[in-house]
Amino acid sequence: MCGIIGYCGHRPAVPLVVEGLRRLEYRGYDSAGVSFVQAGQLSVIRAEGKLSALEQKLATMHVFSATSGMGHTRWATHGVPVERNAHPHRDHSGRLAIIHNGIIENYEALKAELTAKGCEFRSDTDSEVLVNLIAECLKATGGDVMQALSKALGRAEGAYAIVLMSVDHPGTLWATRVASPLVMGVGTGENFLGSDIPAFLPYTRDVVFLEDGELVRLTASSWEVFRADTLEPVAKTVSRINWDVQAAEKGGYKHFMLKEIFEQPKVIRDCLLGRIDPATSQVRLPELDALPVPERLHIVACGTSFHAGLWGLYLLEKYAKIPVQVEIASEFRYREPILDKSGVVLAISQSGETMDTMAGIKLAKSRGLPVIGLCNVVGSSIARESDYVLYSQAGPEISVASTKAMCSQLAALLLLTLYWGRRKGTMSEDSCAGLVSELQTLPKILEDALPSLRASALRLAKHFAETTSFLFLGRGPNFPLALEGALKLKEISYIHAEGYAAGEMKHGPIALIDPHFPTFAIALDDEFFPKVKSNLVEVQARAGEIVALTNEGLDLHVEHPWLLPRATGPLAAFLTLPALQLFAYEMADYLGKDVDQPRNLAKSVTVE
Ligand code: G6P
Repeated sequence: MCGIIGYCGHRPAVPLVVEGLRRLEYRGYDSAGVSFVQAGQLSVIRAEGKLSALEQKLATMHVFSATSGMGHTRWATHGVPVERNAHPHRDHSGRLAIIHNGIIENYEALKAELTAKGCEFRSDTDSEVLVNLIAECLKATGGDVMQALSKALGRAEGAYAIVLMSVDHPGTLWATRVASPLVMGVGTGENFLGSDIPAFLPYTRDVVFLEDGELVRLTASSWEVFRADTLEPVAKTVSRINWDVQAAEKGGYKHFMLKEIFEQPKVIRDCLLGRIDPATSQVRLPELDALPVPERLHIVACGTSFHAGLWGLYLLEKYAKIPVQVEIASEFRYREPILDKSGVVLAISQSGETMDTMAGIKLAKSRGLPVIGLCNVVGSSIARESDYVLYSQAGPEISVASTKAMCSQLAALLLLTLYWGRRKGTMSEDSCAGLVSELQTLPKILEDALPSLRASALRLAKHFAETTSFLFLGRGPNFPLALEGALKLKEISYIHAEGYAAGEMKHGPIALIDPHFPTFAIALDDEFFPKVKSNLVEVQARAGEIVALTNEGLDLHVEHPWLLPRATGPLAAFLTLPALQLFAYEMADYLGKDVDQPRNLAKSVTVE
């Protein structure tokens, strides 16, 4: 998740590019850089940390005569956030520079090949490999940059948005994308590239949305789009957008939360990037190879991350046969937990800064247990404190109520289960490959389902607008999702909600059921269905109104059946979770609440 801007025009490029990066700040930062050609030199200026660090560096330089350039803000998905890993990256001859958002999955093989040809690398990044591959292809294309880029892309696997510049063509930029955002802005005597529209919104509202596999050649006065593989021209239309800056930051969505819910198909794809062996469909997590498979796992987390951990318990026990305890971090740190040395602690945290989770890690370390951090923010305190880190790769999450981060945590926990299950021999290669290939098809299924899920959520929100209390029920791995559904509703709509294990309902909450206390159930086509159904019959016997997330063809008779596409076993969570999130979202929005910044809550809780 990085911010990209490119400019060819008549204004001083560097200040414009830096200003564009500033407008992409909401995408997150850990380092930033710019490049431009001035006096026949290709310059690359980079700095670790916030954009102001780059600005300070540039303030001491004369950078005003270049009228084309590009800039990048990095939000690391892997690789430490230091200057040598910041973009742009140059090839070893220094004649090309690239900015890149995404992951080149086969970069290790390409790097070995280039190293054998004498190429030296200065960073740990896949992007530097790519720019050197382009430089290598340039030799075979007689200096034709576009052909070289096309050839190199033919060998690169993964997801990317790229902008490329060459010292030999100072007024030209080339750019392309696959599964990473990139849009072009069309001005008068100037043209722009951006990972997002806000990058160039003060200059133009005329945009061209680039599709996967398209390549653009840009100068101040021209832009042409080609197919990246064949270089055949592609006709594109210019669209005029009417968004203001705020709407543009939200990608046209009304709230960041809604945008983040809709990003979840991409989040699943991104979490898988580089982690599935394309030949065998087996999971690779090299960051954990040095750690023996835990004999016992203690998951420690707070809030939504705790619910993700609880969901992980069902999978890790069922498939990898690892005994798991899931602990609320604020309880764990003050208990006197029995922590055997054969155990491992898995700390789950989106922000990587939650104080209680951090304290749990310190406790575990003081007892000599190894700690794995499952974090979203690269280089965060928890990531630094952990012995092993697995990044969930969800990109910056801005809305206070966590949505896409949980989706990425579930995906990472599923990968972890398959990875340990295989290492331990509790899962066959075939059953692993089967789940992986179904997981790979899920993003498309979810993408197609999201608009209608949202419409159903809105319908239900209107119907229940005056309800003051909800009961959320689920069994097995759907129990943690019921907890999460209730939490989301509480957090942003301020409606009281309780999540319960469906079978436990008869031990208390059933006393509350009446026509004004609705139940929101997860009743999918799985082994728990008959039991959940009988719990719902108990609700109906007390005149309770029911919404049920369910699948077509099941024998379930409730007032509000809400149909989800079918998915195998644990994979159903990736469809159930967005439905629960959308229900809470539409409820809060319908009631006029401050969705992205709910009262009394903070995104990152660094106090006790
Ligand atoms: C806060 C946030 C929640 C989050 C929890 C744990 O309460 O509002 O959305 O789930 O902290 O945060 P973490 O960053 O550790 O996952």
